[in-house]
Amino acid sequence: MTHHSTPATSAQPGQPFIAYHAGQLQVEGCSLQMLAQEYGTPLFVYSKAAMLSALAAYQRGFAGRTAQICYAMKANSNLAVLRVFAQAGCGFDIVSGGELERVLAAGGVPAKIIFSGVGKTRAEMRRALEVGIGCFNVESEAELEVLSSVAVAAGKSARVSIRVNPNVDPKTHPYISTGLKGNKFGVAQERTLATYQRAASLPGLKVVGIDCHIGSQITEATPYLDAMDKVLDLVAAIEAAGIAIEHIDFGGGLGIHYEDAVPPAADALWAALLAKLDARGYGQRKLMIEPGRSLVGNAGVCVSEVLYLKPGEQKNFCIIDAAMNDLPRPAMYQAFHQIVPLALNSKPRSTYDVVGPVCESGDWIGRERSLAVQQGELLAVLSAGAYCMSMASNYNTRGRAAEVMVDGDTATLIRRRETAAEQMQNEIF
Ligand code: LLP
Repeated sequence: MTHHSTPATSAQPGQPFIAYHAGQLQVEGCSLQMLAQEYGTPLFVYSKAAMLSALAAYQRGFAGRTAQICYAMKANSNLAVLRVFAQAGCGFDIVSGGELERVLAAGGVPAKIIFSGVGKTRAEMRRALEVGIGCFNVESEAELEVLSSVAVAAGKSARVSIRVNPNVDPKTHPYISTGLKGNKFGVAQERTLATYQRAASLPGLKVVGIDCHIGSQITEATPYLDAMDKVLDLVAAIEAAGIAIEHIDFGGGLGIHYEDAVPPAADALWAALLAKLDARGYGQRKLMIEPGRSLVGNAGVCVSEVLYLKPGEQKNFCIIDAAMNDLPRPAMYQAFHQIVPLALNSKPRSTYDVVGPVCESGDWIGRERSLAVQQGELLAVLSAGAYCMSMASNYNTRGRAAEVMVDGDTATLIRRRETAAEQMQNEIF
């Protein structure tokens, strides 16, 4: 399977683990063509080395500091992916009781779990207290009151951080920007001190930190630096009021390379952020971060077969067997994912809209792509490691795709293709 002697060409800048070897696209040492033959399509394939190398950039960035990286598992919650990060020492950022059970099943350490989200239920709080998670990232005053009463009833103490909404524009798609005044997330800056005072006075709660998360797919350092300034101003005010803040959590949000924008590398971003923390005297404080996309996004591809070519008067369509239920980001956010052939060729290209079989005009994967493709050929949709499989649905009663994890020359099936029977098993008629 390997072609170590042939020079490799990366399919994407900065991503050496997904590359062409002798004209064939491989993930590490495994040929995608062979994986597709074995497991069928659509098929998600992830590079373990790419995930660990993305994590290593953060770890380099935090060398010499006290920092906890909590993988935001909503980006990709396959148990095998979680285990890679758990074994590498990561904690997890969860947003539901379901995610909590996944982390526990994958061997994650409860004390390294932080629980984010604006709508935690009492049952979710109870379970998280029972297993002893590290911190609840609380998003409103009403949630504080409920958490306090749940903790008291359970005879436990809930460790809390309050999510601040710093009102900073992350300059990303409006659906994934979260730190502006009009967003549902976090507590407004002006209310933060009062909310901390309330937290400190309520039984069953122990204030341990402060957090913010301003959005996702952020491609510049400036919004982070601005948010950091605002958070540090608040830390100073909260501590002046006699409430100690053990850790500062700056959320996730660092973007990846999809199309043009090349975001800062994690270590470079953190060099800039740590310089500011040092300058303001907070460099030795315990830090937490919650990256999702930047750890897994460019580590995965979705392999799909060209079912039909459909030339038209206005447009040519390339109909593939992956659809919006597998790859929802284009339909939801007009997101761009690169689409490349598994086998390089120099045949003449045509312009296609690459679409799926779902009965919606919104079911497109790429628009106006220049491709030399034939019916039956295989394509790879790149940057499919984050927010694809974890957002996949069964729309049109399409079974969710299979997933494979590659480690060097070894490929392991980490999720079987979903069958129609599995889709129907909870229905009663
Ligand atoms: N922390 C919190 C509180 C979050 O809400 C999120 C993501 C993260 C961390 C991780 O952010 P990341 O490092 O992955 O940017 N489905 C959208 C992205 C939604 C992000 C939601 N929150 C997409 O496909 O672009």
